[in-house]
Amino acid sequence: EFIKSVLDDMAIFVRSKYAMRDGMRVSTKREANDLLTEVDLAVQEEIVARIREAFPEDAIFAEENGLHELPADRDGRTWLIDPIDGTQNFVRGLFPAFGISLGFAVEGKPVAGGVAVPGKGELFLAEKGGGAFRNGERIVVSDVGAVGSARAEIDFSGPWDREEILQRFSPLMIAIGQVRCHCAAVIGLCSIATADMDAYVHVALNPYDYAAAMIIVEEAGGLVTRLDGSPIHVFDGGRGVLASN
Ligand code: IPD
Ligand code: CA
Ligand code: CA
Repeated sequence: EFIKSVLDDMAIFVRSKYAMRDGMRVSTKREANDLLTEVDLAVQEEIVARIREAFPEDAIFAEENGLHELPADRDGRTWLIDPIDGTQNFVRGLFPAFGISLGFAVEGKPVAGGVAVPGKGELFLAEKGGGAFRNGERIVVSDVGAVGSARAEIDFSGPWDREEILQRFSPLMIAIGQVRCHCAAVIGLCSIATADMDAYVHVALNPYDYAAAMIIVEEAGGLVTRLDGSPIHVFDGGRGVLASN
C-alpha cells in the first residue's frame, strides 16, 4: 500500500514533467550518455522523504544524490529507488519507455516492489507470495519454451558496457528468435512479467535498476538470477542479470 501510494503520486508528477520536457534542466554524470534531469532529483527527494517519515529505521539505497553507498547491514531492511529508469527515453521521448522503481529488500532479497510507467499509465506491484499485478490485474509470464522462438531483451546499456555485451551476448543474439532493447531495465523486466517478452539480460545492472522489477517477474512466475544462473543478493555487486519466464 505504501509503495502504491508513493508511485501513484510520483507518476502524476513525472507524466506532467514529461509533457513539458522541452524546458527541462538536463546535465551529464560520468559521460555524455549518462543523463541526469531535475525530475530524477525531485522524484528521489520526495520518495526518500516519504520513506524516512514512514519507516525511519530502514536503510535507503538510491541512484542519485550520494545515496548509492552500500548499507552498513546488507541484510537489513532496505528501500531501493531508481527515480527514473530509462532517463534517455524520458529526455528524448522514445516509446515512452521509462519507469519509476521502488523496491524493498530484506536479507538481500526483494520482498515487495513497484514500478510505475507514467507514459503508459501502468503501475506494476508485487509482494512476496502474493502474485504480480498491472493496474490491479494479475499478470503471468509466457509459456514460450524454446530459445529459437523466444523474444529477449539484450539491454545495450551505455558505451561503457558494449564491448562486454558483444562478447557475452553474441551467441544469444544469433540463437534467439527475436531481439529487443527498450534501454530501460524496468520496462524490459516488467515485459517478462506481462508475457510480452520471454527473457532479459544485462552485463552490469545496479540493485536499484532491478530490485523492484525482480520481485514483479518472480511473482509473475519467472526467475531472476546472475548470468550463470546463481542466486542474486541485491548487494553482491553491480553484476549481470538474467531474467526469464
Ligand atoms: C539505465 C537503464 C538501461 C541500462 C543502464 C541503466 P538509467 O538506467 O536501465 O536500460 O542499460 O545500464 O543505467 O540511467 O536510465 O536510470
Ligand atoms: Ca536505472
Ligand atoms: Ca535512473
